[in-house]
Amino acid sequence: MKQIIEKINKLKENLNKWGHAYYVLDKPLVDDSEYDKSLNELIKLESQYPQLITLDSPTQKVGGVVMDKFEKYKHKQPMLSLANAFNEEDLENFNDQILKEIENKKYNFFVEPKIDGLSISLIYKNGNLFKGVTRGDGIYGEDVTSNVKTIKSIPLSISDKSEYVEIRGEVFLSKNEFEKLNKQRLLNDEEIFANPRNAAAGTLRQLDSSIASSRKLDAFLYYFMDREKFHTHSDSLKYLETMNFKVNSLGKICNNIKEVYEHIQTILLQREKLEYEIDGVVVKINDFDLYEKVGYTAKSPKWAIAFKFPAETKQTKLKNIFSTVGRTGRITYNASLEPVQIAGTTVQAATLHNADFIIQRDIRIGGEVKVKKAGDIIPEVISPIQDENYFSLKKWKEEKKCPQCHSILERVEGEVDQYCINSQCPRKIVRGLEHFVSRDAMNIEGLSIKIIEKLYDNKFVSTVSDIYKLNKFRQQLIELDKMGEKSVKNLLESIEISKANSLEKLFFGLGIRHVGKKTAKTLALSFKNIDKISTITFEELEQINDVGPIVAKSVCDWFTIKQNRELIKELNELKINMQYLGNEGTKNNDKITLKSFVITGTLSKPRNYFKDLLEEYGAKVIDTVSKKTDFLLAGNEAGSKLEKAQKLGINILSEEQFLEMIGE
Ligand code: IVH
Repeated sequence: MKQIIEKINKLKENLNKWGHAYYVLDKPLVDDSEYDKSLNELIKLESQYPQLITLDSPTQKVGGVVMDKFEKYKHKQPMLSLANAFNEEDLENFNDQILKEIENKKYNFFVEPKIDGLSISLIYKNGNLFKGVTRGDGIYGEDVTSNVKTIKSIPLSISDKSEYVEIRGEVFLSKNEFEKLNKQRLLNDEEIFANPRNAAAGTLRQLDSSIASSRKLDAFLYYFMDREKFHTHSDSLKYLETMNFKVNSLGKICNNIKEVYEHIQTILLQREKLEYEIDGVVVKINDFDLYEKVGYTAKSPKWAIAFKFPAETKQTKLKNIFSTVGRTGRITYNASLEPVQIAGTTVQAATLHNADFIIQRDIRIGGEVKVKKAGDIIPEVISPIQDENYFSLKKWKEEKKCPQCHSILERVEGEVDQYCINSQCPRKIVRGLEHFVSRDAMNIEGLSIKIIEKLYDNKFVSTVSDIYKLNKFRQQLIELDKMGEKSVKNLLESIEISKANSLEKLFFGLGIRHVGKKTAKTLALSFKNIDKISTITFEELEQINDVGPIVAKSVCDWFTIKQNRELIKELNELKINMQYLGNEGTKNNDKITLKSFVITGTLSKPRNYFKDLLEEYGAKVIDTVSKKTDFLLAGNEAGSKLEKAQKLGINILSEEQFLEMIGE
């Protein structure tokens, strides 16, 4: 046995060393075949002696764990995002804010690429990888440990054996892996991913970890959370390197904003050549000791900023123009393009918005066009290149009929968009169902657009209420290709859970024109249940803060249509909750409910206490003072926000005045 243990240890030691050289340092020490041979030997030994498998064995990286769902995990410290800068002036302002907080202290910056992936928090306990958690909403993330364990550049065990070590970074998919993955998906007739970030996010959220393992995710780490241990960010990064984490090599210390800007340009020049996608540069104060002094806003630290790169543009040929119809019946036009590489991805389709956009720019099929791609945003045709061939091409004319149901399109005088007004248009129905189940609406998991199309084609669903009758078709669902028993079970569970959603989610999901997420919340908060909303008059609606005449009319119109009223009745009979369930607005005070507040300065309790309290009264708490702000709640040492509020003549309340106002 002793010999076996020694053999296993030797294999593990070699494999870990070779893996680090290959996946982190990009400097292989041995041939792939030698690595594979040792790995197979280890797998064989471990299968003979399963009691000898340890958490840090390289065999634990191959995946194979299948989960039902991901558990929520509360972050020890919230995962914040960063404010954005777009030019040198924004950087100067960022620096000015810092100077305000720390007089006479010398400091420098650390400038590093902003990796376009998704943030991850890694927790090691006593040296072993304990959890890998996504950002989620910043407070609660998803426990995706089983997938994180398959990422070859993330060590399963580290030399720091402290009880708790947390390190944050970015999981990403290289440009190369992304292209490979999409090619494969095309072959399999699967929807392709729009960009490497979506692909990485989709992969990290796979319940079967062998999928993550096969897709070769990677990770850069850039944030060591224990700031007591080091004085500078750059030192903490060196430490991460000694622990075998992958740390980006383009990071640099810069002494002032001029140097910061220069290094940004250096990184920008290399952008296209890099193996991974970056969407900007992150500028951080290098001195950890100053972080607390410089402080935070509600959403982001003031000691760092994300400098966003401008969108990349390229020229290519416009092969064709085609139209699609959305859930509201709105027609959008799209271009199919000669494939072109922009910002690391192959672009072959781009939006052309509406008919006016194309006509005004005189964009013609067969001509060359300029195409732009900015981060998340769908690629967009910007303008035609009017070369000598251009004017021999035929002028483009807008379509007259819906591309799906062929009914005549309508266009309201003065509006740019064309609409298909056939309520039975199949595409509108399918898109409406997709919206109803989406995350911000009823949040039903397992109903992708592809599955909805199948359910619709098979006549299982044609209205949103049919979704709640799907359990009748359990067996047929299982037989629908690729659905299987387990996903049907999960789907039906998710449908059942959604019945208890708070009213605003249902209200948003109904897809009433001009009722976005925010308006749905305002209405739910003001009326508390759907009966109230459905009987309300235009005048009453218009009274509500934030509800203008367009929204008011749209809501009234929606409820006058008989089919819609019947839908609500049916949903009610199917036991879908129609009450507002949030904490906010549970208390009422005419002076506060639906008013907007900004909080500043030092109060007797943390700001979040006052924020929660205000929200219970149905007030909105926002970050910046503007003309629209109703009240500024100002504590001691209030600074620029107080000045601005005074200038704008906004009501300023001290803590005592505020407490008096709410009678506490
Ligand atoms: S530092 C307190 N450094 O960009 C936040 N973030 O909005 C500290 N990101 O959520 C983040 N590369 O996911 C930092 N080198 C880098 C980064 C980086 C990418 C992401 C991160 C964060 C977002 C900022």
